[in-house]
Amino acid sequence: MNSSIVVMPGDGVGPEITAAALAVLDAVASRYGHTFRLTEVAIGGDAIDKHGVPLRPEDLRVCRKADAILLGAVGGPQWDNIEVGLRPERGLLALRKGLGLFANLRPVAVHPDLASTSPIKSEIVSGVDLVVVRELTGGIYFGKPTRQWADSRGRLAVDTMKYREQEVERVVRLAFELARTRRKQVASVDKSNVLSTSRLWREIVNEIAPEFPDVTLEHVLVDAMAMRLVRQPGRFDVIVMENMFGDILTDEASVIAGSIGLLPSASLGAQKGSGSGRRIGLYEPIHGSAPSMAGQGKANPTGTILSLAMLLRSSLGLTEEAEAVDKAVSSAIANGVRTYDISEPGTSPVSTSDFGAAVASRI
Ligand SMILES: NC(=O)c1ccc[n+]([C@@H]2O[C@H](COP(=O)([O-])OP(=O)(O)OC[C@H]3O[C@@H](n4cnc5c(N)ncnc54)[C@H](O)[C@@H]3O)[C@@H](O)[C@H]2O)c1
Repeated sequence: MNSSIVVMPGDGVGPEITAAALAVLDAVASRYGHTFRLTEVAIGGDAIDKHGVPLRPEDLRVCRKADAILLGAVGGPQWDNIEVGLRPERGLLALRKGLGLFANLRPVAVHPDLASTSPIKSEIVSGVDLVVVRELTGGIYFGKPTRQWADSRGRLAVDTMKYREQEVERVVRLAFELARTRRKQVASVDKSNVLSTSRLWREIVNEIAPEFPDVTLEHVLVDAMAMRLVRQPGRFDVIVMENMFGDILTDEASVIAGSIGLLPSASLGAQKGSGSGRRIGLYEPIHGSAPSMAGQGKANPTGTILSLAMLLRSSLGLTEEAEAVDKAVSSAIANGVRTYDISEPGTSPVSTSDFGAAVASRI
């Protein structure tokens, strides 16, 4: 296969963790005889320093033409005081919007040897293997009107949560399709006892469910899900929800794994050509640029390497190669290869690049 991947290292630890993932991609290319054409593009603070803006329009066009994008992280204190519209994170927002990425996937899988690093009891987190699918481009973060004003009784403010059926349908269908490739369970999260948007959400989920008779569906209210995610996370497979609920619950779910450095994500858009199953996607670890760790080889590149596995699977259709990457990460951890954040006291952690090399050597 000959595919094009845009690489956006970004800021802070971004360049180190993407370099570690690219070492793994190199190993995949040699082992399976693929050619991956890589184009490096600046984003975030890096782009502000080089070009004066967090993402240039011409670079967005380069991203649109690529098969997939692998990103490190953006941001850092040196760009905190510039005008809001030009901050590093604006580059990410422009990228998500420009590529029409409507679904954010965050898998949380706990490696058996790392269950003790979670702040939640090992017996609860052992064997957890779930994916949260969050609607990314609708809901209260984008609804109009949104404003604050004052009247004779004092200050007041309004935000608007709005969903069109098509926005719900496409993300819910994606969640069911994903469940089909896994343990065939979908939990749909809403607040249908209070919100009209949630009642529409539930209605549409119930309409789509019969198309997937092999997938089990349950509806869970968002407040109940907040509890169940930490009490019985092992019960869930694919969990789908609207934007703001997803923003909050994905952060809660990330705690289960023990270190933020372990977790990947994918933001997906429409399928490329009908029936191909392949989607344009942006793949990045869930963490930020960890400025205080930058340049020291201390960052855990696992989240970025597992994001690369998601890229191979969802945007390039390379299932076997994706599984090889997942297994190589698991085998490195099982053999005691640990970065600083997940090492046991008294053991010697490896650097970011050595972890990447350890995974690459197992492909
Ligand atoms: N998607 C993104 O690019 C993204 C996401 C969140 C925050 N940010 C930006 O990143 C900067 C730092 O933000 P923050 O400190 O709130 O969040 P952060 O995720 O960068 O760091 C939070 C904590 O996790 C640790 N950590 C992060 N990545 C790690 C890794 N790979 N291995 C081991 N430990 C790791 C950090 O050292 C820190 O203690 C800010 O400028 C923020 O705006 C960017």
